[in-house]
Amino acid sequence: MSKNEKLAKLTVEQKIKLVTGKDNWSTQGYEEQGIDSIKMNDGPHGVRAEYTDENGQRKFYLTTAYPCAAACASTWNRELVHELGKHLANECAYVGTDILLGPGVNIKRTPLCGRNFEYYSEDPYLAGELAASYINGLQENGIGSCIKHFAANNQEYDRGHISSEIDERTLREIYLKPFEKAIKQSQPWAVMCSYNRINGIYASQNKKLQNDILRDEWNFEGMVISDWGATHDRGLCLKSGLDVEMPHCKETFDELSDDLRKGLISESDLDIACERIIGTAEKIAHAKSKRNCVYDKKSNREFAEKIAEESIVLLKNDDGILPIKDNVKNIAVIGRFAEQPVAQGGGSAGVVTDEIESPLTFMRQRAESKYNISYAAAYLNGHPVCAPDCVGNAIATAAMADIVIVFVGDTEKTECEGIDRTSIKLHQYMEDVIHRVTAVNENVIVVIQAGSAIDMSGWINEVKGVLFQYYGGNSSGDALTRIIFGDICPSGKLAETFPTSLEDTPTAKFDSYPGNGPSVVYNEGLMVGYRYYDTAKVKTLFPFGYGLSYTSFEYSDMHLSSSDISNGEEITVSFNVKNTGECDGKETVQLYIEEIAPCTFRPRNELKNFTKVSLKAGEEKRVELKVGHDDFAYYSVALNDWHVNGGRYRIKLGASVEDIRLSSVVNVSR
Ligand code: BGC
Repeated sequence: MSKNEKLAKLTVEQKIKLVTGKDNWSTQGYEEQGIDSIKMNDGPHGVRAEYTDENGQRKFYLTTAYPCAAACASTWNRELVHELGKHLANECAYVGTDILLGPGVNIKRTPLCGRNFEYYSEDPYLAGELAASYINGLQENGIGSCIKHFAANNQEYDRGHISSEIDERTLREIYLKPFEKAIKQSQPWAVMCSYNRINGIYASQNKKLQNDILRDEWNFEGMVISDWGATHDRGLCLKSGLDVEMPHCKETFDELSDDLRKGLISESDLDIACERIIGTAEKIAHAKSKRNCVYDKKSNREFAEKIAEESIVLLKNDDGILPIKDNVKNIAVIGRFAEQPVAQGGGSAGVVTDEIESPLTFMRQRAESKYNISYAAAYLNGHPVCAPDCVGNAIATAAMADIVIVFVGDTEKTECEGIDRTSIKLHQYMEDVIHRVTAVNENVIVVIQAGSAIDMSGWINEVKGVLFQYYGGNSSGDALTRIIFGDICPSGKLAETFPTSLEDTPTAKFDSYPGNGPSVVYNEGLMVGYRYYDTAKVKTLFPFGYGLSYTSFEYSDMHLSSSDISNGEEITVSFNVKNTGECDGKETVQLYIEEIAPCTFRPRNELKNFTKVSLKAGEEKRVELKVGHDDFAYYSVALNDWHVNGGRYRIKLGASVEDIRLSSVVNVSR
């Protein structure tokens, strides 16, 4: 039966039911008309799916919690994120999920956003590239992806009502760009609208976003679903391009029936949405027959570890304190998170899982008879103190050790959907533990489990080493241990700037967060993340793209395939990267462009490509990166389109945005 024949067989009542969802997680199915129900589940760091057991009890499948999106982004590894899609697909197939609700590509506008751990980056290019890899990985393996939250949901504070007031250029270049890239490069089967309003209009009933931009400009072919409970005027949503309301809500059925009776919506409005839903159900049916997924818990957990290995960022390593050297005998491990790590942030992204690896267990195993490991909890998870003498024990333990490793971080209560953080510092009791430990031992390494930037100004000068672990999911204990002992070289780099303090962030400088009353005005415009710090020359704690290694890399011999580029053309940037140290490692090279004499305001550097190169000690490789004419474009409000200013541009290759190693000039014609 063709799509049209199926549609023709539906009554009006059935059509309204189709666009209003069946229950919490599925759309309505109609066997007689050959329309399958579509099952969706969260996403994005694993599959959170429920079932009812033989006693009628509601249970969750125990699936794999992969490192959070912020961690995945710090791998800067498209292939790894693509492969993550494949692993997620086999878990989805196992639990019966057709569409996974992820990835989330909202831009990290402020480090306070409670969901930053669920998002990739402050940079639209990086977020869009990784999202496309994730989506392709899932969909090539027969599971649909639902990219979210469209759009400009950059804070949790008042997310259900607030209007993100954004000028057109900023909207296009920063907040819509990751969606645009991902839609064009991977055509996800679904898009989820956000809760907030954009320039006064709720995302769910925003015709400009859903129909004019997403469908007409970007050629999105799938269905648009609401975030859970994000609809307001359901008839208006339908006319503005929202296809399915989720979850099912009985009142909406009545509302749409009324709207139809009153002529506020027509049956053809319903038909358009139903056709898209039927089209998606057909895609799923077709994909099911092709699915070649084998559920293998062990391989999923091992893969989660592989991501963790590449996501951990070495931020500080004075005197080469890491990796632990052979002359070290006594290691003190301080902090409950060593034993019970915070593996995930809070909210709908939380995967129900088992067997979360404890770094302490792996460190003890790895130490064997070579090192003595002593441990003191120092605090309870999420609580400032444990027993009164608990911190005292920790200090005594630290005082006797050659090296101290202190575990600190945020928790799923402080970094959580629905609320923003109120501070970007560690809780005071954790800072106190660090101070007291550094007072008795000068060889201190801090391991941070958190989902977003942390202000370390209060203690960073007192410690020698800092490893940022993010929320690492099930299997990051072993990965962390292997980095600490030097079995592998750290290769994570920050996909977000770590500011020196909250006061230094652009939203603080421009007084543009969290907004007052009905709206939050994005006064900082394009000056988001490194675009601000780098252009305004504001000192950062750690810049975008930064991460240390145990080895060193040298860049040389940069060559452009042409010194001119015109509309529709591409140039190849080639260069050498050499591992000049003594251990094997991986280097992420970032390509930024800068317009030399802009007549229109431009951020100083903009990321336009990157690659991660794996090099044995002493090895050198020739690497190529492409840059297209479109990469030089900005969004012209006057033309209402992307536009390239003709002129000279610098193409730069850097180890971070603040560590540019090579550059060449190219002439760009309009
Ligand atoms: C979240 C979405 C999530 C949905 C379903 C909403 O509250 O914003 O990201 O997919 O719930 O759990």
